[in-house]
Amino acid sequence: MLTNKKIVLGITGGIAAYKAAELIRTLVKEGALVKVMMTKSAMEFITPLTMQTLSRNQVYTDMFVPADQYDMAHISLAEFADAFVIAPATANIIGKIASGIGDDLLSTTMMAQSKPTLICPAMNDKMLSNPIVQENINKLKKTGYVIMDSAEGELACKTAGKGRLPDIADIIEEIKTLLTPKDFKGARILITAGPTEEPLDPVRFITNLSSGKMGYALAVAAHRRGANITLISGPANLPLPAAEKIIKVRTAKEMHKAVMTHYRNADIIIKAAAVADYCPKTLAKEKIKKDKKALSLELEINPDIIADIGKNKGNRVLVGFAMETQNLLANARDKLKKKNMDLIVANNLQEEGAGFRTDTNVITIIDRTGECESFGKMTKIEAAGAILDRVKKIMSKKSNIKN
Ligand code: C5P
Repeated sequence: MLTNKKIVLGITGGIAAYKAAELIRTLVKEGALVKVMMTKSAMEFITPLTMQTLSRNQVYTDMFVPADQYDMAHISLAEFADAFVIAPATANIIGKIASGIGDDLLSTTMMAQSKPTLICPAMNDKMLSNPIVQENINKLKKTGYVIMDSAEGELACKTAGKGRLPDIADIIEEIKTLLTPKDFKGARILITAGPTEEPLDPVRFITNLSSGKMGYALAVAAHRRGANITLISGPANLPLPAAEKIIKVRTAKEMHKAVMTHYRNADIIIKAAAVADYCPKTLAKEKIKKDKKALSLELEINPDIIADIGKNKGNRVLVGFAMETQNLLANARDKLKKKNMDLIVANNLQEEGAGFRTDTNVITIIDRTGECESFGKMTKIEAAGAILDRVKKIMSKKSNIKN
């Protein structure tokens, strides 16, 4: 999504300035067009040559250069940018922007621009918690700047605390959020993701191959579009996406309970979890011993979570998934009707690039009229985007959420 996006990166003088090199590299790798401004102190930590090489553009360092070299940089950069990022941002640049001071190229450009701007503070923990710095940060937030929370951990000054530059992957995700139109602003979305585990004894359980990638991708895509997200996740080994609430569960019954507690506060419910249909009828207290005889397990049926919501969904948009190995579309249509969904996303396990654990999916979205739209192989983030687009169409037809 960063292809051809124009990012102007301001680098200020903190030790984390060296990490800006990796940030530029990643932005360029993802297709962004990057121009870099460096303050004088930033150049004490890392050279413009590094940034020029990585960004494949000249680096802007000075206000006062012959006109033919910089072309009124503070104005032209403001016009060029789709978004500004300052990383790392020192207490000094934060203070200058908050006070309207423009005494070098970066601070002057900040005064001359009104594009979406992300500021990533990085400094000593005591500096960061200084009430004046905090007041400046709050002032910038109120003015519309997006300020990323600094990370906690070991700091260059040999102390530990809050003040580290966030991970580059997190900054990149925040830039994507910054650039995404907020067409789901105010919408409350409940997403379930991952497999469930159904224990037999203290060390064994029945599960499936779900990784949680599709559900987590939905959370990421919906967060970028401004939605308020509650994620209910089975055991998944993935970085947690940004969400207002994340509830971790293990079994289908725990997921059922969590969903029933929270779905009334949602406008949209997307059930991407691969919920176990059955669980062992009894849970052995001790590890089941091996015997010479065969062992049979008695299974009982788990609650069907989506069917339970379907019975009582009011005006909410309900989206389910269907993963099949045969008669995909017919089975999916049947499930949509039986469980009273608004949309069902069908994916065929036999198809290359679809299904569990992959970063891609091949989906068909079916609505209540039976109409279906098939998509070629795409990333799970792109698939999430296509699902949200269809949800938006349904949302625009519905109004006044009733409980
Ligand atoms: O019938 P099937 O399990 O294939 O239906 C898949 C859809 O139903 C998915 O959206 C899944 O999250 C949901 N489901 C559920 N509770 C179950 C089983 C499936 O909510 N016990």
